[in-house]
Amino acid sequence: RPGRADGARGLRFAPVAPNTDDKVTVPEGYAQSIVIRWGEPILRGAPAFDPDRQSAKAQAGQFGYNNDFLSLLPLRGEHGRQVLVANHEYTDEVLMFKGYDSENPTREQVEIAWAAHGLSVVVVQEEHRSGKLSPVTRHPLNRRLTATSEFELTGPAAGSELLRTSADRFGRTVLGTLNNCAGGTTPWGTILSGEENFNQYFANGSSATDKRYGVGSGATERKWERFDRRFDLKQEPNEVHRHGWVVELDPYDPDSMPAKRTALGRFKHEAAQPRLTDDGRPVVYMGDDERFDYFYKFVSSKRMKKGSSRAAREHNRTLLDEGTLYVAKLTGDSPGEIDGTGKLPNDGEFDGSGVWIPLATGDVSHVPGMTAEEVYVFTRLAGDKVGATKMDRPEDVEPSPRTGRVYVALTNNSKRGTDGNPGVDEANPRNSNKHGQVLELAEHWDDPTSDGFAWRLFLVAGDPDDPATYYAGYPKDKVSPISCPDNIAFDPYGNLWLSTDGNALGNHDGLFGVATHGERRGELKQFLTVPTGAETCGPIIQDRRVLVAVQHPGEVDGASAEKPASAWPDGPGKPVRPSVVAVYRKDGRDIGA
Ligand code: FEO
Ligand code: CA
Ligand code: CA
Ligand code: CA
Repeated sequence: RPGRADGARGLRFAPVAPNTDDKVTVPEGYAQSIVIRWGEPILRGAPAFDPDRQSAKAQAGQFGYNNDFLSLLPLRGEHGRQVLVANHEYTDEVLMFKGYDSENPTREQVEIAWAAHGLSVVVVQEEHRSGKLSPVTRHPLNRRLTATSEFELTGPAAGSELLRTSADRFGRTVLGTLNNCAGGTTPWGTILSGEENFNQYFANGSSATDKRYGVGSGATERKWERFDRRFDLKQEPNEVHRHGWVVELDPYDPDSMPAKRTALGRFKHEAAQPRLTDDGRPVVYMGDDERFDYFYKFVSSKRMKKGSSRAAREHNRTLLDEGTLYVAKLTGDSPGEIDGTGKLPNDGEFDGSGVWIPLATGDVSHVPGMTAEEVYVFTRLAGDKVGATKMDRPEDVEPSPRTGRVYVALTNNSKRGTDGNPGVDEANPRNSNKHGQVLELAEHWDDPTSDGFAWRLFLVAGDPDDPATYYAGYPKDKVSPISCPDNIAFDPYGNLWLSTDGNALGNHDGLFGVATHGERRGELKQFLTVPTGAETCGPIIQDRRVLVAVQHPGEVDGASAEKPASAWPDGPGKPVRPSVVAVYRKDGRDIGA
């Protein structure tokens, strides 16, 4: 196993060994600090965190719960400062509240949970000559968006009858964003945020489309439907259609209303990361995180305007409202050779070709039997109709800013090849897939608007000693083991970084870097591990700093606020708090240099 601090540029650190320690473990020579924790005040007037006297009012001005996606944007004119944006995916009431009665939550607890969802914008300050970051409380750009903030619906499905409710007869304004998982940062200075498992917040689903989206037919676990009728689909059947979108937020304009971009389709959006075409049009790659669901791209018909003038910003606000939405269909080139064990096919590689099937362009549907509005609101059904490839849970999908190649994290699929479920194919080659894989896609002519691509599996994750794993052809005795890849990021050298969710090898989740080109392609090294029960999210790899969101620490079966399973981050007797962590070198030099 690797013990050396050599490696590709950007990956020269001694890898962290797999472990189950209740802490964040970083490579030798590196230091860490907490950037911000759940409950820290960020808005003017918000009180300090008091776990025994938490209120919805306090939470609305404090950093939210369960941070997932992170973005750091430049802040011109304020030395050493950047704008941090974080998603707050979901709440875990059992860990948040002492004495929580899951059958009878109180209104205050429910309203705290509403306020702990959503997003935070918070300006952060660098410590002189270190990688440390700390929040600038009460900065005018700081902002909280929650489950009750106003969002504008834009694009071709805005105003559709499918999106109208008794509270919003025009189908154009939604309260709240829920289950914001990963996201993306646009070249025009906004962030995108994926609304993922929104189904869990809605009770009494009954339609076929509710079922396809996993909306249950009974009460919800959090019982929000008792406190706001819009969460009860018997009363408001269309409210659920107003969730499951990609949200766009301009963190530089605290008065701007964030938008849900309907042109990007509705599904369990994991993330959304744009790449620009040569003529300046954004192409956004997106995954639908569900077993046997699809991955997509959106190609805008409008060019980005450069600069930060008011006119440019107003124009760029419309880029994701016009264009074509596509879904991916993949074909392997080794028919008949995929045996479901992960054994490489006779041609030595899981690979093949693919096509992007257009689903809708503006008001025009390309799917027989569905209107364009139906394609956007029920995008999964459109993918079903056109025969898109059923993947092993597409999580983050991101293009390399260096090579343009697109990487798709397929996190796992316990049901692949099991009773009545689809069997293996060359892109999803293992039955009961526990560890996942990473697919590498090259658009034809390296043109992101292309309707065809080549693909191959870059990693087939799991124990390197297991013959059913593949590390891009690199010698497997020289890699760190990885399982359940989820979020994707790139460092300044073009190396791919992967964070994991659900390590099925018995160790804690972590963050890994791997070279994608050159002689060391496939040499994968673990950079950090996270505490008990946590998932590693939101990685950002800057020259001198790595940022991760440590999500749901202590989330272990049977754990509670009274009996925590983790003492992170503040030690025994203190509440477990999801937090953002910065990692940097003690000598102040660049990461992995
Ligand atoms: Fe929220 Fe697909 O992870
Ligand atoms: Ca092949
Ligand atoms: Ca995720
Ligand atoms: Ca995940």
